[in-house]
Amino acid sequence: MSSLWVLASTNAGKLAELNRMVQPSGKVFRPQSDFHVPATDEPYPTFLENALHKARHASLHTGLPALADDSGLCVPALGGQPGVHSARFAGDDRCDARNVQQLLHHMVAVTDRRAYFYCVLVAVRHPDDPVPIVAEGLWQGTLAGAPQGSGGFGYDAIFYPVDCTETVAQLASEWKEQHSHRAQAIRQVLARLAWADGR
Ligand code: IMP
Repeated sequence: MSSLWVLASTNAGKLAELNRMVQPSGKVFRPQSDFHVPATDEPYPTFLENALHKARHASLHTGLPALADDSGLCVPALGGQPGVHSARFAGDDRCDARNVQQLLHHMVAVTDRRAYFYCVLVAVRHPDDPVPIVAEGLWQGTLAGAPQGSGGFGYDAIFYPVDCTETVAQLASEWKEQHSHRAQAIRQVLARLAWADGR
């Protein structure tokens, strides 16, 4: 199987994390923008459907195997919001800082501060791959009252993983890349690909 994959995303944070995670396997993800893949929408109500849609789209436009990561932060006390709308919670400009402020605003009078990150990865070897690899990861924690730390991206600065007294943005990136929702999912994808490659 090819070592070059297209990542069906424009999110620089995801790209950097995934490339560090797969580095020992020899695989490399390049962003779909490198191949001028036209933007596609995320029309579905589930992470899984959006990921499959994005992976197929990127593979179709590049002729390469493609991996899509659809992920977000879910807050049970808010009925699962921001969920699939995590990237655009505060508007179409996908601004992390404004998304965080929007979520904190919704949480002002909320005592149940539990939250979890969810990630589904879908890998297709070609656009019509009848057996996409599908893997998920779920990372539980609680929400801080204000952003703390400067690492990571997205909602990292307001997320305390279970049993942690620091937010993800305060913790070492290497630690996140061992424990996160994305780390859990990519390990499963790599295991499936290694098996398919006979390794
Ligand atoms: P997507 O590109 O539609 O999958 O949007 C994912 C959004 O979920 C990101 O823009 C972040 O707001 C959020 N998100 C996903 N994974 C993480 C993470 O590892 N840390 C912080 N925020 C994340």
